[in-house]
Amino acid sequence: MRQILGDSLAIKNLISMIDKVAGNKTNVLIIGESGTGKELVARMIHESGPLKGKPFVPVNCGAIPETLIESEMFGHKKGSFTGAISDKIGLFEAASGGTLFLDEVGELPLPMQVKMLRALQEKTIRRVGANDDIKVDVRIIAATNRDLEAAVKAGTFREDLYYRLNVILIKTPPLRERHGDVEILATAFLQKFAERQKKEVCGLSPEVLEIFRTHSWPGNVRELENTIERAVTLEVGPLITVGVLPPSVTVAYDGGARSKLESVEIKAGRGGAAPTVGVAPTIASGTAGTSKEIRLPLPDFKNGSINLDEVLAEVEKQYLKHALEFTGGVKKKAADLLGMTFRSIRYRLGKLGMDTDDGE
Ligand SMILES: Nc1ncnc2c1ncn2[C@@H]1O[C@H](COP(=O)(O)OP(=O)(O)OP(=O)(O)O)[C@@H](O)[C@H]1O
Ligand SMILES: [Mg+2]
Repeated sequence: MRQILGDSLAIKNLISMIDKVAGNKTNVLIIGESGTGKELVARMIHESGPLKGKPFVPVNCGAIPETLIESEMFGHKKGSFTGAISDKIGLFEAASGGTLFLDEVGELPLPMQVKMLRALQEKTIRRVGANDDIKVDVRIIAATNRDLEAAVKAGTFREDLYYRLNVILIKTPPLRERHGDVEILATAFLQKFAERQKKEVCGLSPEVLEIFRTHSWPGNVRELENTIERAVTLEVGPLITVGVLPPSVTVAYDGGARSKLESVEIKAGRGGAAPTVGVAPTIASGTAGTSKEIRLPLPDFKNGSINLDEVLAEVEKQYLKHALEFTGGVKKKAADLLGMTFRSIRYRLGKLGMDTDDGE
Protein backbone atom coordinates (compact mmCIF):
# COMPACT_ATOMS: atom_id res chain seq x y z
CA MET A 1 0.00 0.00 0.00
CA ARG A 2 1.26 3.50 -0.78
CA GLN A 3 2.36 5.33 2.33
CA ILE A 4 1.75 8.85 3.46
CA LEU A 5 5.25 10.10 4.20
CA GLY A 6 6.27 12.91 6.50
CA ASP A 7 7.27 13.62 10.05
CA SER A 8 5.56 16.97 10.60
CA LEU A 9 2.81 17.49 13.13
CA ALA A 10 0.41 18.21 10.26
CA ILE A 11 1.12 14.81 8.69
CA LYS A 12 0.90 13.01 12.03
CA ASN A 13 -2.51 14.61 12.61
CA LEU A 14 -3.56 13.64 9.10
CA ILE A 15 -2.60 10.01 9.63
CA SER A 16 -4.38 9.81 12.97
CA MET A 17 -7.47 11.30 11.35
CA ILE A 18 -7.33 8.68 8.59
CA ASP A 19 -7.12 5.93 11.21
CA LYS A 20 -10.14 7.35 13.01
CA VAL A 21 -12.40 7.58 9.98
CA ALA A 22 -11.29 4.39 8.22
CA GLY A 23 -13.20 2.17 10.63
CA ASN A 24 -16.67 3.42 9.73
CA LYS A 25 -18.49 4.46 6.58
CA THR A 26 -19.07 8.14 7.29
CA ASN A 27 -18.82 10.51 4.36
CA VAL A 28 -15.54 12.40 4.25
CA LEU A 29 -14.69 15.65 2.51
CA ILE A 30 -11.00 16.25 1.75
CA ILE A 31 -9.92 19.80 1.05
CA GLY A 32 -6.46 20.85 -0.02
CA GLU A 33 -4.39 22.52 -2.68
CA SER A 34 -3.44 20.68 -5.83
CA GLY A 35 -0.83 17.98 -5.30
CA THR A 36 -1.17 17.79 -1.52
CA GLY A 37 -2.25 14.14 -1.52
CA LYS A 38 -6.06 14.25 -1.50
CA GLU A 39 -6.43 11.12 -3.62
CA LEU A 40 -3.72 9.36 -1.63
CA VAL A 41 -5.62 10.13 1.59
CA ALA A 42 -8.88 8.85 0.08
CA ARG A 43 -7.19 5.58 -0.92
CA MET A 44 -5.63 5.21 2.52
CA ILE A 45 -9.01 5.67 4.20
CA HIS A 46 -10.45 3.02 1.91
CA GLU A 47 -7.61 0.56 2.38
CA SER A 48 -7.14 0.97 6.13
CA GLY A 49 -10.68 -0.07 7.01
CA PRO A 50 -13.25 -2.79 6.45
CA LEU A 51 -13.75 -1.78 2.81
CA LYS A 52 -10.24 -2.95 1.90
CA GLY A 53 -10.52 -5.38 -0.97
CA LYS A 54 -13.82 -3.85 -2.10
CA PRO A 55 -13.94 -1.53 -5.12
CA PHE A 56 -12.43 1.97 -4.89
CA VAL A 57 -13.88 3.93 -7.78
CA PRO A 58 -12.40 7.37 -8.46
CA VAL A 59 -14.33 9.81 -10.63
CA ASN A 60 -13.16 13.22 -11.69
CA CYS A 61 -16.36 15.27 -11.58
CA GLY A 62 -14.73 18.07 -13.55
CA ALA A 63 -13.73 15.88 -16.47
CA ILE A 64 -17.09 14.41 -17.54
CA PRO A 65 -19.10 16.43 -20.08
CA GLU A 66 -22.25 17.83 -18.47
CA THR A 67 -24.53 15.93 -20.81
CA LEU A 68 -23.01 12.55 -19.89
CA ILE A 69 -22.54 12.96 -16.18
CA GLU A 70 -25.87 11.50 -15.04
CA SER A 71 -25.45 8.37 -17.13
CA GLU A 72 -21.82 8.02 -16.00
CA MET A 73 -22.85 8.22 -12.35
CA PHE A 74 -26.10 6.26 -12.42
CA GLY A 75 -25.91 4.20 -15.63
CA HIS A 76 -28.53 4.01 -18.37
CA LYS A 77 -31.02 1.74 -20.13
CA LYS A 78 -30.46 0.74 -23.70
CA GLY A 79 -32.05 3.27 -26.07
CA SER A 80 -32.60 5.93 -23.38
CA PHE A 81 -30.66 8.45 -25.48
CA THR A 82 -28.76 8.51 -28.77
CA GLY A 83 -25.62 6.46 -28.25
CA ALA A 84 -27.05 4.32 -25.45
CA ILE A 85 -26.66 1.12 -27.45
CA SER A 86 -26.84 -1.20 -24.45
CA ASP A 87 -27.65 -1.17 -20.75
CA LYS A 88 -24.78 0.26 -18.75
CA ILE A 89 -24.14 0.37 -15.04
CA GLY A 90 -22.96 3.64 -13.55
CA LEU A 91 -20.13 4.44 -11.17
CA PHE A 92 -22.39 4.21 -8.10
CA GLU A 93 -23.21 0.61 -8.92
CA ALA A 94 -19.58 -0.12 -9.87
CA ALA A 95 -18.52 1.08 -6.42
CA SER A 96 -21.21 -0.95 -4.67
CA GLY A 97 -19.97 -2.24 -1.32
CA GLY A 98 -16.88 -0.04 -1.58
CA THR A 99 -15.91 3.60 -1.94
CA LEU A 100 -16.91 6.13 -4.57
CA PHE A 101 -14.28 8.88 -4.66
CA LEU A 102 -15.82 12.07 -6.02
CA ASP A 103 -12.74 14.03 -7.02
CA GLU A 104 -13.11 17.74 -7.82
CA VAL A 105 -16.62 17.60 -6.43
CA GLY A 106 -16.81 21.41 -6.62
CA GLU A 107 -17.09 21.07 -10.41
CA LEU A 108 -20.40 19.16 -10.31
CA PRO A 109 -23.02 21.07 -12.30
CA LEU A 110 -25.96 22.30 -10.17
CA PRO A 111 -28.63 19.99 -11.69
CA MET A 112 -26.37 17.02 -10.99
CA GLN A 113 -25.84 18.21 -7.42
CA VAL A 114 -29.59 17.77 -6.82
CA LYS A 115 -29.51 14.22 -8.14
CA MET A 116 -26.38 13.42 -6.19
CA LEU A 117 -27.96 14.67 -2.98
CA ARG A 118 -30.95 12.42 -3.53
CA ALA A 119 -28.71 9.42 -4.18
CA LEU A 120 -26.81 10.07 -0.95
CA GLN A 121 -29.96 10.64 1.11
CA GLU A 122 -32.06 7.78 -0.21
CA LYS A 123 -29.14 5.43 -0.91
CA THR A 124 -30.84 4.59 -4.17
CA ILE A 125 -30.15 5.55 -7.75
CA ARG A 126 -32.13 5.30 -10.94
CA ARG A 127 -30.47 4.54 -14.27
CA VAL A 128 -31.23 7.05 -17.03
CA GLY A 129 -34.31 5.81 -18.87
CA ALA A 130 -35.28 3.29 -16.17
CA ASN A 131 -38.46 3.24 -14.08
CA ASP A 132 -37.22 1.56 -10.96
CA ASP A 133 -34.75 2.53 -8.24
CA ILE A 134 -31.73 0.45 -7.36
CA LYS A 135 -30.33 0.26 -3.83
CA VAL A 136 -26.68 1.20 -3.59
CA ASP A 137 -24.41 0.85 -0.61
CA VAL A 138 -21.34 3.02 -1.12
CA ARG A 139 -19.11 5.12 1.04
CA ILE A 140 -18.61 8.59 -0.39
CA ILE A 141 -15.29 10.36 -0.12
CA ALA A 142 -15.23 13.71 -1.91
CA ALA A 143 -12.31 16.02 -2.58
CA THR A 144 -11.81 19.52 -3.86
CA ASN A 145 -9.19 22.22 -4.09
CA ARG A 146 -11.90 24.86 -4.32
CA ASP A 147 -13.25 26.85 -1.42
CA LEU A 148 -16.61 25.07 -1.21
CA GLU A 149 -17.93 27.33 1.53
CA ALA A 150 -17.38 30.30 -0.75
CA ALA A 151 -19.07 28.37 -3.58
CA VAL A 152 -22.05 27.77 -1.27
CA LYS A 153 -22.21 31.48 -0.49
CA ALA A 154 -21.94 32.31 -4.19
CA GLY A 155 -24.78 29.91 -4.97
CA THR A 156 -22.75 27.61 -7.22
CA PHE A 157 -22.67 24.72 -4.75
CA ARG A 158 -25.75 23.48 -2.89
CA GLU A 159 -25.56 23.96 0.84
CA ASP A 160 -27.49 20.74 1.58
CA LEU A 161 -25.08 18.67 -0.50
CA TYR A 162 -22.12 20.42 1.11
CA TYR A 163 -23.31 19.38 4.59
CA ARG A 164 -24.10 15.86 3.41
CA LEU A 165 -20.53 15.42 2.09
CA ASN A 166 -18.85 17.29 4.91
CA VAL A 167 -19.60 14.96 7.81
CA ILE A 168 -15.89 14.68 8.48
CA LEU A 169 -13.57 17.31 7.05
CA ILE A 170 -9.93 16.49 6.37
CA LYS A 171 -7.48 19.14 5.21
CA THR A 172 -4.30 18.15 3.40
CA PRO A 173 -1.57 20.63 4.35
CA PRO A 174 0.47 22.45 1.68
CA LEU A 175 4.13 21.48 1.51
CA ARG A 176 5.35 25.01 2.25
CA GLU A 177 3.84 24.73 5.72
CA ARG A 178 5.85 21.63 6.49
CA HIS A 179 9.27 22.19 5.03
CA GLY A 180 10.70 19.51 7.33
CA ASP A 181 8.90 16.89 5.24
CA VAL A 182 10.54 17.97 2.00
CA GLU A 183 13.77 16.07 2.64
CA ILE A 184 11.94 12.91 3.71
CA LEU A 185 9.75 12.98 0.61
CA ALA A 186 12.64 13.91 -1.69
CA THR A 187 14.72 11.00 -0.40
CA ALA A 188 11.87 8.53 -0.83
CA PHE A 189 11.14 9.73 -4.38
CA LEU A 190 14.84 9.63 -5.21
CA GLN A 191 15.05 6.03 -4.12
CA LYS A 192 11.92 5.13 -6.07
CA PHE A 193 13.00 6.72 -9.35
CA ALA A 194 16.65 5.63 -9.09
CA GLU A 195 15.45 2.06 -8.67
CA ARG A 196 12.91 2.36 -11.46
CA GLN A 197 15.40 3.93 -13.87
CA LYS A 198 18.29 1.74 -12.68
CA LYS A 199 20.45 4.80 -11.91
CA GLU A 200 23.16 5.18 -9.29
CA VAL A 201 21.95 8.56 -8.01
CA CYS A 202 21.85 8.32 -4.23
CA GLY A 203 21.44 11.79 -2.71
CA LEU A 204 20.96 15.53 -3.03
CA SER A 205 23.79 18.04 -3.15
CA PRO A 206 23.79 20.57 -0.26
CA GLU A 207 22.82 23.35 -2.68
CA VAL A 208 19.81 21.38 -3.92
CA LEU A 209 18.74 20.70 -0.35
CA GLU A 210 18.96 24.41 0.38
CA ILE A 211 16.83 25.22 -2.69
CA PHE A 212 14.29 22.57 -1.71
CA ARG A 213 14.04 24.02 1.79
CA THR A 214 13.34 27.53 0.56
CA HIS A 215 11.19 26.85 -2.51
CA SER A 216 7.48 27.51 -1.93
CA TRP A 217 6.30 24.39 -3.81
CA PRO A 218 3.10 25.79 -5.35
CA GLY A 219 2.47 22.35 -6.91
CA ASN A 220 3.12 20.69 -3.54
CA VAL A 221 4.14 17.00 -3.33
CA ARG A 222 3.38 16.37 -7.01
CA GLU A 223 5.78 19.17 -8.00
CA LEU A 224 8.48 17.69 -5.75
CA GLU A 225 7.90 14.21 -7.14
CA ASN A 226 8.09 15.44 -10.75
CA THR A 227 11.19 17.49 -9.96
CA ILE A 228 12.95 14.42 -8.58
CA GLU A 229 11.86 12.20 -11.47
CA ARG A 230 13.24 14.72 -13.97
CA ALA A 231 16.44 15.18 -11.96
CA VAL A 232 17.10 11.44 -11.70
CA THR A 233 16.60 11.13 -15.46
CA LEU A 234 19.04 13.94 -16.27
CA GLU A 235 21.67 13.57 -13.54
CA VAL A 236 24.89 11.83 -14.51
CA GLY A 237 26.67 12.01 -11.14
CA PRO A 238 25.93 10.34 -7.80
CA LEU A 239 24.18 13.40 -6.32
CA ILE A 240 21.35 15.53 -7.69
CA THR A 241 22.87 18.89 -8.63
CA VAL A 242 21.32 22.30 -9.29
CA GLY A 243 21.83 21.93 -13.03
CA VAL A 244 19.16 19.26 -13.38
CA LEU A 245 16.46 21.18 -11.51
CA PRO A 246 13.77 22.90 -13.58
CA PRO A 247 13.95 26.72 -13.75
CA SER A 248 10.63 26.98 -11.92
CA VAL A 249 12.33 25.54 -8.85
CA THR A 250 15.64 27.43 -9.07
CA VAL A 251 14.24 30.79 -10.12
CA ALA A 252 13.97 32.32 -6.66
CA TYR A 253 17.31 30.95 -5.54
CA ASP A 254 20.08 33.53 -5.60
CA GLY A 255 22.94 31.61 -4.04
CA GLY A 256 25.10 29.16 -5.92
CA ALA A 257 22.38 28.79 -8.50
CA ARG A 258 22.90 32.29 -9.79
CA SER A 259 24.91 31.10 -12.73
CA LYS A 260 21.79 29.23 -13.87
CA LEU A 261 19.82 32.44 -13.97
CA GLU A 262 19.91 35.17 -16.52
CA SER A 263 22.77 36.93 -14.81
CA VAL A 264 24.09 40.11 -16.33
CA GLU A 265 26.82 42.40 -15.22
CA ILE A 266 25.99 46.05 -15.32
CA LYS A 267 28.67 48.62 -15.16
CA ALA A 268 26.93 51.82 -14.33
CA GLY A 269 28.21 54.94 -12.71
CA ARG A 270 30.67 57.68 -13.26
CA GLY A 271 34.42 57.73 -13.40
CA GLY A 272 36.42 55.49 -11.14
CA ALA A 273 33.60 55.04 -8.65
CA ALA A 274 31.58 52.84 -10.98
CA PRO A 275 30.04 50.01 -9.00
CA THR A 276 29.45 46.70 -10.67
CA VAL A 277 25.92 45.59 -10.14
CA GLY A 278 25.21 41.93 -10.64
CA VAL A 279 21.64 41.76 -11.78
CA ALA A 280 19.86 38.48 -11.47
CA PRO A 281 16.21 39.10 -12.10
CA THR A 282 14.52 36.64 -9.80
CA ILE A 283 10.84 36.13 -9.60
CA ALA A 284 9.96 35.32 -6.05
CA SER A 285 6.69 33.56 -6.57
CA GLY A 286 4.03 32.77 -9.12
CA THR A 287 4.56 31.82 -12.71
CA ALA A 288 7.65 33.25 -14.28
CA GLY A 289 6.71 36.15 -16.46
CA THR A 290 3.45 36.96 -14.74
CA SER A 291 4.74 38.00 -11.36
CA LYS A 292 5.59 41.61 -10.78
CA GLU A 293 8.02 40.78 -8.01
CA ILE A 294 11.54 41.17 -9.33
CA ARG A 295 14.48 41.38 -6.99
CA LEU A 296 17.62 43.23 -8.03
CA PRO A 297 20.68 43.59 -5.83
CA LEU A 298 20.91 47.18 -4.64
CA PRO A 299 24.03 49.25 -5.34
CA ASP A 300 26.43 50.01 -2.54
CA PHE A 301 26.51 53.80 -2.47
CA LYS A 302 29.66 53.70 -0.35
CA ASN A 303 31.42 53.08 -3.65
CA GLY A 304 30.05 56.27 -5.14
CA SER A 305 27.03 57.35 -7.14
CA ILE A 306 25.39 55.51 -9.99
CA ASN A 307 23.29 56.58 -12.95
CA LEU A 308 19.84 55.04 -12.60
CA ASP A 309 18.89 55.75 -16.19
CA GLU A 310 21.92 53.81 -17.37
CA VAL A 311 21.04 50.89 -15.10
CA LEU A 312 17.43 50.81 -16.33
CA ALA A 313 18.56 51.07 -19.96
CA GLU A 314 20.88 48.12 -19.37
CA VAL A 315 18.06 46.05 -17.85
CA GLU A 316 15.85 46.94 -20.80
CA LYS A 317 18.61 45.97 -23.21
CA GLN A 318 19.14 42.59 -21.56
CA TYR A 319 15.41 41.80 -21.56
CA LEU A 320 15.08 42.77 -25.23
CA LYS A 321 18.14 40.71 -26.14
CA HIS A 322 16.85 37.71 -24.19
CA ALA A 323 13.42 37.91 -25.84
CA LEU A 324 14.96 38.24 -29.31
CA GLU A 325 17.22 35.25 -28.71
CA PHE A 326 14.18 33.28 -27.58
CA THR A 327 12.23 34.11 -30.72
CA GLY A 328 15.17 33.62 -33.04
CA GLY A 329 15.24 37.35 -33.79
CA VAL A 330 11.54 37.68 -34.66
CA LYS A 331 10.67 41.11 -33.29
CA LYS A 332 6.92 40.70 -33.49
CA LYS A 333 7.03 37.64 -31.25
CA ALA A 334 9.57 39.24 -28.93
CA ALA A 335 7.23 42.23 -28.58
CA ASP A 336 4.40 39.87 -27.60
CA LEU A 337 6.61 38.19 -25.02
CA LEU A 338 7.46 41.53 -23.48
CA GLY A 339 3.89 42.82 -23.55
CA MET A 340 4.54 45.65 -25.99
CA THR A 341 3.58 46.54 -29.53
CA PHE A 342 5.74 45.95 -32.59
CA ARG A 343 6.06 49.70 -32.96
CA SER A 344 7.28 50.01 -29.41
CA ILE A 345 9.92 47.29 -29.67
CA ARG A 346 11.25 48.83 -32.87
CA TYR A 347 11.43 52.22 -31.21
CA ARG A 348 13.23 50.83 -28.14
CA LEU A 349 15.71 48.80 -30.16
CA GLY A 350 16.49 51.87 -32.22
CA LYS A 351 16.90 54.04 -29.15
CA LEU A 352 19.27 51.55 -27.55
CA GLY A 353 21.25 51.12 -30.75
CA MET A 354 20.19 47.48 -31.07
CA ASP A 355 18.27 47.66 -34.32
CA THR A 356 19.94 45.60 -36.96
CA ASP A 357 17.37 45.46 -39.70
CA ASP A 358 13.84 46.53 -40.39
CA GLY A 359 12.12 43.14 -40.65
CA GLU A 360 9.62 41.51 -38.33
N1 LIG B 1 2.43 12.68 2.18
C1 LIG B 1 2.75 12.06 1.03
N2 LIG B 1 3.63 11.04 1.04
C2 LIG B 1 3.97 10.41 -0.11
N3 LIG B 1 3.50 10.73 -1.31
C3 LIG B 1 2.60 11.75 -1.38
C4 LIG B 1 2.18 12.46 -0.21
N4 LIG B 1 1.29 13.40 -0.59
C5 LIG B 1 1.17 13.28 -1.93
N5 LIG B 1 1.95 12.30 -2.40
C6 LIG B 1 2.12 11.92 -3.82
O1 LIG B 1 2.02 13.12 -4.58
C7 LIG B 1 1.29 12.92 -5.78
C8 LIG B 1 0.07 13.82 -5.78
O2 LIG B 1 -0.86 13.37 -4.82
P1 LIG B 1 -2.43 13.31 -5.10
O3 LIG B 1 -2.69 12.95 -6.51
O4 LIG B 1 -3.06 12.49 -4.05
O5 LIG B 1 -2.75 14.86 -4.88
P2 LIG B 1 -4.13 15.63 -5.05
O6 LIG B 1 -4.28 16.47 -3.83
O7 LIG B 1 -5.21 14.66 -5.37
O8 LIG B 1 -3.81 16.57 -6.26
P3 LIG B 1 -4.85 17.26 -7.34
O9 LIG B 1 -5.66 18.26 -6.59
O10 LIG B 1 -3.93 17.94 -8.29
O11 LIG B 1 -5.64 16.15 -7.92
C9 LIG B 1 0.92 11.44 -5.81
O12 LIG B 1 1.89 10.75 -6.56
C10 LIG B 1 0.99 11.03 -4.35
O13 LIG B 1 1.28 9.69 -4.20
MG1 LIG C 1 -6.36 14.49 -7.16
